[in-house]
Amino acid sequence: MRRRWFDEARFGMFVHFGLYSAAARHEWVQNYEKLTDAEYRPYFDHFDPDLFDARALARRAKETGMGYVVLTTKHHDGFALWDTAHSDFNAVAACGRDLVREYVDALRAEGLRVGLYHSLIDWHHPDFTVDWNHPRRDDPQAIAGNADRDMNRYREFLHGQVRELLTGYGEIDYLFFDFTYPEERDGLAGKSPEDWDAEGLLALCRELQPDMIVNDRLGIPGDFVTPEQYQPTSPLSRDGVPLVWEACQTMNGSWGYHRDNTDQKSATLLVQMLADSVSMDGNMLLNVGPDGRGAIAPRDERTLREIGEWMRLHRDAIVGAGHADARPPREGVYTRRGDRLYLHLFSWPLGFVHLPGLAGKVGYARLLNDGSWLRTTVSDPTQQADLMTPAGEAEGTLTVHLPVTRPDVLVPVIELTLRAD
Ligand code: GLC
Repeated sequence: MRRRWFDEARFGMFVHFGLYSAAARHEWVQNYEKLTDAEYRPYFDHFDPDLFDARALARRAKETGMGYVVLTTKHHDGFALWDTAHSDFNAVAACGRDLVREYVDALRAEGLRVGLYHSLIDWHHPDFTVDWNHPRRDDPQAIAGNADRDMNRYREFLHGQVRELLTGYGEIDYLFFDFTYPEERDGLAGKSPEDWDAEGLLALCRELQPDMIVNDRLGIPGDFVTPEQYQPTSPLSRDGVPLVWEACQTMNGSWGYHRDNTDQKSATLLVQMLADSVSMDGNMLLNVGPDGRGAIAPRDERTLREIGEWMRLHRDAIVGAGHADARPPREGVYTRRGDRLYLHLFSWPLGFVHLPGLAGKVGYARLLNDGSWLRTTVSDPTQQADLMTPAGEAEGTLTVHLPVTRPDVLVPVIELTLRAD
């Protein structure tokens, strides 16, 4: 089954690492600053990932409760992290290491699923035409040079590199292509599925790795869709058919290491986003951008540790869980796994939480972090509220009695065991 592990895992790690990590000012730096090849070259000449430790990365992902990792094999700058025969612009030439090999081996050693990210865009390749999205978009000479650039040759190169990745590294579970922008802008073309031969590329994936899941950014439908840096507000579907989705999210808005961007999301917010995704039948892919030496930045490491501590206690509410057909109270969201309903409380309602429609349906309630039993009652809608009892709630409401002290975890979770009916 191509997708089962993915639906189960719910939580993965995205890793953006490349030459831009040493530039340390966003993975789009070459584009944002319109750098020429020569201006970008020092990051290649001085690439020295001495602290890129794939084993440590894999362990960190596992300890954070993640089931898979997705590494940038090549980003838009065209730099390949593996030993590619199709160009010299690669990690073996720069530092003598095949980082994809190290990564794949480390993931397997930890029992994690192997995901690869691969950029369709390539600002380094001499045949990739200058479009509105290209670092040289404002350079008339470069644009005139499009006459000598041959996208047929680029396509061959692209397919050749993908073939290498899908044949040289054993079983690959997941491939994230990035991305297609067919619209014209500023009098310049974009790139459409035909530019990649998207159909042919997807067929190549199916042939070489039949069980691998492929995302939707070839510009044609794939196995899952990829909301980027936003959260959907309900389970996603198209024409009434549910869509498999994964929201990819950053720690601070940048994917590649951005030294001076300290706009760090809190671990609490990230856990809420994860629970929110699962409550809508989605996954969350949380990014880290290792620094110029390949190490996970201390600020990211801290956040991952905090999330990992929460996942250690609340794993059952995430892994293997999904959307629940019940209306959550205003304080949070539900996830469901078999006969368990999990209420993730984004705010702490002192005293009581009222669960519409659940009267008579719950056999047992407890806090998941410490397994402590919680009293439940069904209040009489006609009864008057007084100091110690909650106001009359709508018929069918189950009231869970809570300690005044909020459990000291990022997001408290109430586990409700549903009665068999
Ligand atoms: C994008 C960006 C990018 C990032 C990615 C992650 O479209 O171009 O830098 O790698 O999405 O989803």
